[in-house]
Amino acid sequence: MNSVMSKAYGKAAWGLPLQGSDVAVTWDHLYWFLFWLSVFFFILVVGGMIYFAIVYRKKEGRKTKYIVDHHALEAFWTIIPTILLMAIFGWGWSVYKKQIHAPTDAMEIRVIGKQWLWTFQYDDGRTEASKLVVPLGKPIKLIMTSQDVIHSFFIPNFRVKQDVVPGMYTSVWFEPKVAGEHQVFCTEYCGTSHSGMLAKVEVLEPEQYELWKAGKPYQVTGVKTPSSDLLAAAQSSARLANAKLPLPDQGAKLVQAKGCTACHSIDGSAKIGPSYKGIFGHEQELLDGTKVTVDENYIRESIQKPQAKVVKGFNPVMPPYTKDMIGEEDMNAIVAYIKSLN
Ligand code: CUA
Repeated sequence: MNSVMSKAYGKAAWGLPLQGSDVAVTWDHLYWFLFWLSVFFFILVVGGMIYFAIVYRKKEGRKTKYIVDHHALEAFWTIIPTILLMAIFGWGWSVYKKQIHAPTDAMEIRVIGKQWLWTFQYDDGRTEASKLVVPLGKPIKLIMTSQDVIHSFFIPNFRVKQDVVPGMYTSVWFEPKVAGEHQVFCTEYCGTSHSGMLAKVEVLEPEQYELWKAGKPYQVTGVKTPSSDLLAAAQSSARLANAKLPLPDQGAKLVQAKGCTACHSIDGSAKIGPSYKGIFGHEQELLDGTKVTVDENYIRESIQKPQAKVVKGFNPVMPPYTKDMIGEEDMNAIVAYIKSLN
C-alpha cells in the first residue's frame, strides 16, 4: 500500500535508486543535466575528431592551407563553456545549500557509528541498533558521531551521505516522502566487517509511527529496498568464511564483528557491560535484586532483549539485536564462545 505521496516520488529509473526525498529529486535533475551535457560534448568532440581525421587524412599532392586565428570562434568557445560552468556551479550550490541547512523544526535523532554497527538514539531515551524509525513527511536531522574510526552514513534513496567522525558531530537531514524500508550503508572502509555495517530506515505512516512511539507492534507499509536481503547475504558470507572453524572460534569472530567487545571484555574486567569470562553456569544478581543463572536461554534473551534482566552494577544501555541481526547459527556460536571462556 503506497500513499499518494509515494507515487510521485518512489520511482527508481535508469539505474538510480528510487527518489525517497525532495533532495533526491533535485539532485537527480542536476545529475541528468550533467550526464546529458557530457554526452552532447562527447559526441561533438569525439565525433568531430573522427570526422576531421577521415576528411582531412593524408593524400598525395594535398597541401594543408595556412590557417589564421579566428577571434569570433575563440570567443564563442570560451564564453559558452564559461556560462555552462557557472550555471552548473550555481545549480550545484543551491542544491548543496538545500541539503546542508536542516529546517529548524526538524526532528533530531542521534546516530552512533562503531565497528560495525549503526545505533540510533531517540529523544525519549530509546536506543535501537541497525534500525532507524522515522515518520513519513517530517524533516529529520541526524546528529552523528563515531565511537572508534571514521565511518560514513549513506542512504542512497534520500541521496544523503556524510562522514561520521570520532570526536566530533556531523549531521545530515532529509524529509522522507516514501513509506517503507530504505537501505543504509557505511560507505567509508572501516575494517573487516565494513560491508556488513548495514542498517535500514523504516519510514512509517503517521498511525504506525504513533504505535512505534508507544512501544506497540506496528507495520511497515510501502516500498522495500532489500535491507534484509543484504543483511542476510552479509551474514551468510561471513558464516561461509567461518564455516571451517570450531564453533567457539566462530563465536569469537562474531562478537568482534558485531561490536560486542566494545562493551564486554573477555578477561573478567568490567567495561560498559559485564565481562564474558566465567559467567556461564554461574549466578548473577540483577538490578531488581533477584538472581539468575547464566545459561543458553539467558544469553539469548540478553542479546535479543537486553533490558529484560540487567546485571546489577550496570546500566540498561545495550541495544537489542534482532533475529535479523544475529541468526540462530550465529547465536549458537556466540553461546559456545561464552561457554568456552569459563
Ligand atoms: Cu563503518 Cu565502513
